[in-house]
Amino acid sequence: MQTRQLGDGLTVSAIGLGAMGMNAFYGPSDERESTATLQHAVDIGVTFIDTAEAYGPFTNEQLIGRALGSRRDEITIATKASAETDDDGTVHGRNGSPEYIRRACDRSLRHLGMDTIDLYYLHRADPAVPIEDSVGAMADLVAAGKVRHIGLSEVAAPTLRRAHAVHPIAAVQSEFSLFSRDVLHNEEKATADELGIGFVAFSPLGRGVLTEGVRSLDDLAPDDARRGLPRFQPAAFAANRRLVARVERIAGEIGATTAQVALAWLLAEGAVPIPGTRRRSRLDENAAAAGIRLTDAQRTALVDAIPADDVIGSRDGVDAPIGIDR
Ligand SMILES: NC(=O)c1ccc[n+]([C@@H]2O[C@H](COP(=O)([O-])OP(=O)(O)OC[C@H]3O[C@@H](n4cnc5c(N)ncnc54)[C@H](OP(=O)(O)O)[C@@H]3O)[C@@H](O)[C@H]2O)c1
Repeated sequence: MQTRQLGDGLTVSAIGLGAMGMNAFYGPSDERESTATLQHAVDIGVTFIDTAEAYGPFTNEQLIGRALGSRRDEITIATKASAETDDDGTVHGRNGSPEYIRRACDRSLRHLGMDTIDLYYLHRADPAVPIEDSVGAMADLVAAGKVRHIGLSEVAAPTLRRAHAVHPIAAVQSEFSLFSRDVLHNEEKATADELGIGFVAFSPLGRGVLTEGVRSLDDLAPDDARRGLPRFQPAAFAANRRLVARVERIAGEIGATTAQVALAWLLAEGAVPIPGTRRRSRLDENAAAAGIRLTDAQRTALVDAIPADDVIGSRDGVDAPIGIDR
């Protein structure tokens, strides 16, 4: 597996693994297969593992601790704070206060069973707390040796600049895929590139739409949270899948799968995708995307296949305008 550098000093596998769906939001999962998938990821060099205290809450970090605690030195672990959660799992909403960040970090370390977090993200900026205060608290965690690098998720360009002035930011994580390309137009990615900050693409497969795995809403379990998202409402989903059919045709010409060309496109954009999967076979398929080099013409054809205005439904139901902290 190739590597990419995030910020000044964090080297990660070019494709990571998003662990969220292994026990949160996306319906039932099999802990044995999830554990085997996490182990297999490390075996094949997919060592950049993404989680958050909010996934479960807590159970996702605990799963990773159980599955990979004994292989701590082989992985780069990324987790996130700021969805204020009581120890009993009650979620209150954003909290970017220094006090909460300190508490959340200690709890994440305990749940992961690890001494350090390689990349600690603020999951969302808290409008009630200046970003300087949140990042200042995270910088203190770096100084204390609990965190190696700091990241932010879904922040607007001005917030990123202010944060980076307090402490070097290694990575920004935002939704970015052939279906969600707004980061290319709202200065978010351009600012990260300018400041030498890495860009991590979450939901790089459009939460599964850009794969052969979610071809119909019947492929989703009744309790799958995607059923509540605008792009997964029946009429929107049908229209969006018609766009994916165009990507499937291009993938066929390239001799790759839909998921693979979606990931190869992100790699060509300079992002590090963290596709989520609970299955070893899909992990192998996704990891192989690192070996696909798209031509400029293929990249253009993929963008043209999904005109932004033709995508039906907002990406997550949050109506924050482009360029604003979400
Ligand atoms: N910062 C944030 O606010 C934020 C928000 C959302 C997500 N994330 C992170 O981003 C990661 C990935 O995002 P995501 O899971 O939402 O969406 P995604 O990676 O775009 O898609 C995941 C879905 O695609 C399916 N899939 C993956 N590879 C496949 C393949 N090769 N063939 C067929 N189906 C395939 C998975 O099914 P199976 O699992 O059944 O294989 C799952 O349903 C998460 O795990 C999380 O770590 C961060």
